[in-house]
Amino acid sequence: MKIISVVGARPNFMKVAPVYRAINKHNIQNPLYKIEHLICHTGQHYDEKMSKVFFEDLELPKPDFYLGVGSGSHAEQTAKVMVEFEKILLQEKPDFVLVVGDVNSTIACSLTAKKLHIKVIHVEAGLRSFDMKMPEEVNRVLTDRISDYLFVTEKSGLENLKNEGVPDEKVFFVGNVMIDSLIYYQSKVGKSKILQHFDVSPQSYILVTLHRPSNVDTKESLKRLVKFLNRLGEERKVIFPIHPRTKNNLERYSLSESLSKSVILSEPIGYIDFQALIKNAELIVTDSGGIQEESTYLGVQCITLRTSTERPVTVEIGTNQLIGVDLEKAEIACLDVLSGNKKEGKIPELWDGMAAERIVKKLVIN
Ligand code: UD1
Repeated sequence: MKIISVVGARPNFMKVAPVYRAINKHNIQNPLYKIEHLICHTGQHYDEKMSKVFFEDLELPKPDFYLGVGSGSHAEQTAKVMVEFEKILLQEKPDFVLVVGDVNSTIACSLTAKKLHIKVIHVEAGLRSFDMKMPEEVNRVLTDRISDYLFVTEKSGLENLKNEGVPDEKVFFVGNVMIDSLIYYQSKVGKSKILQHFDVSPQSYILVTLHRPSNVDTKESLKRLVKFLNRLGEERKVIFPIHPRTKNNLERYSLSESLSKSVILSEPIGYIDFQALIKNAELIVTDSGGIQEESTYLGVQCITLRTSTERPVTVEIGTNQLIGVDLEKAEIACLDVLSGNKKEGKIPELWDGMAAERIVKKLVIN
């Protein structure tokens, strides 16, 4: 069996790492029935701090293929990945292409594979925000529609796929590979020196990540955001590792200087150090998808500045609160948490560090 796994953007790397390990483990235990596993990096994210550092932190090997597509409009980026990935598929003729998550590389590679009659495995299938204005939602819906194996992280995914008419035989509830990584690297995370670097102690700071176009692409929304962060800065130190999109826009609108001294901007941070920042935060404010899950697993308070979430379990049983994009409401919610009013949370079913092993087992049996 030959599988090509695809990574493209920052949130993909920690999802493929456990699959890579689980396949290696399978190969050691089954020397007569080895899986040939190749990794293809599309180059959607290319900055050292958005990509290379993750390979080091996650102990991933150098990718077998690097497509180097870089940034561009959605059509440009998706099309470039497809053209380059098709060449790899024609040369390698894998049995399966494995894609994770919902970025442009995910749909580009699954579509390319499907048209060549290569089976598609989607890890993190079934999540839905029901907001087709989000590029990720379009990527999720279309990838699931053409996938042959759909591996689901939370129960809502099973329901969504059933409602869309996906046959049950294709769908497997296996847990969350992102949480596999979080659990696996805990001892490394414990050794991180990132809190000393920012001169903060555990439970004394707010961690912020914001990069969604809806929050950071217009001057007006960024201005409101600066005011909001400065208000949080009056309460606690705010650590804000900044995505290139957000950084570029703050600079374009000359707003970087308007942030107060207690809002500490930093470059994007590697996986291990970032996990240490999540684990020790008193509060997280984010518009990311994955951070909603990581904070729920760790029982850390999380306020999500979005109107919808494709990960409802983090709100239903986890420590996540979906506040919307009204920053006055967000300020009230943050101050409430900082005054000690914390949301109790539980860990979702099967988020136990074994998801990737379940996936490999399923692929081998079928
Ligand atoms: C992508 C994903 C998003 C994910 C996010 C995580 C899609 C549609 N979106 O969004 O789901 O949450 O990654 O980070 O796939 N840039 C750099 N260096 C890089 C990468 C990007 O400077 O290494 C800048 C470029 O200006 C680029 C912009 O960031 O135009 C946006 O990058 P892009 O890959 O288009 O989408 P993200 O916003 O990163």
